[in-house]
Amino acid sequence: MSGKKKQTAAAPAASQVTVCRGCCCGRTEKNPNIDHAAQLERLKERLGPARVRVSDCLDVCEQANVIVVSPSSAGRAAGGRPVWLGLVGDTEAIDDIADWIDAGGPGTADAPAVLDLDEFKPSRRVRDEAGFGDS
Ligand code: FES
Repeated sequence: MSGKKKQTAAAPAASQVTVCRGCCCGRTEKNPNIDHAAQLERLKERLGPARVRVSDCLDVCEQANVIVVSPSSAGRAAGGRPVWLGLVGDTEAIDDIADWIDAGGPGTADAPAVLDLDEFKPSRRVRDEAGFGDS
């Protein structure tokens, strides 16, 4: 036995979200009927700006708009992994995501059933390149 442990990325103390704002997500050219700025502000209001991260393209543009919900450290310890949500378009979905995170997020609280419709699993390559490789 070598005594080495596999290193994994440290989970944040609180669950947080990564909101894609690349070449397709957040663009009115792609989704003209969505107020993308208002959605981002709503998430920041609900969760606090420190728990909302904006990323460049996550390489799953066919799912635009993409949001990834990461578990808290407690959620990860309980088996929670980042959850990828695609085609997020309405304000109700934003509130459902915020409600879920307020309740604890992945690994700690069940996601609202309606979010099952938005969940998808990208390829390992995409997850690795986006920094969610062990999900
Ligand atoms: S712009 Fe969001 S996945 Fe490409």
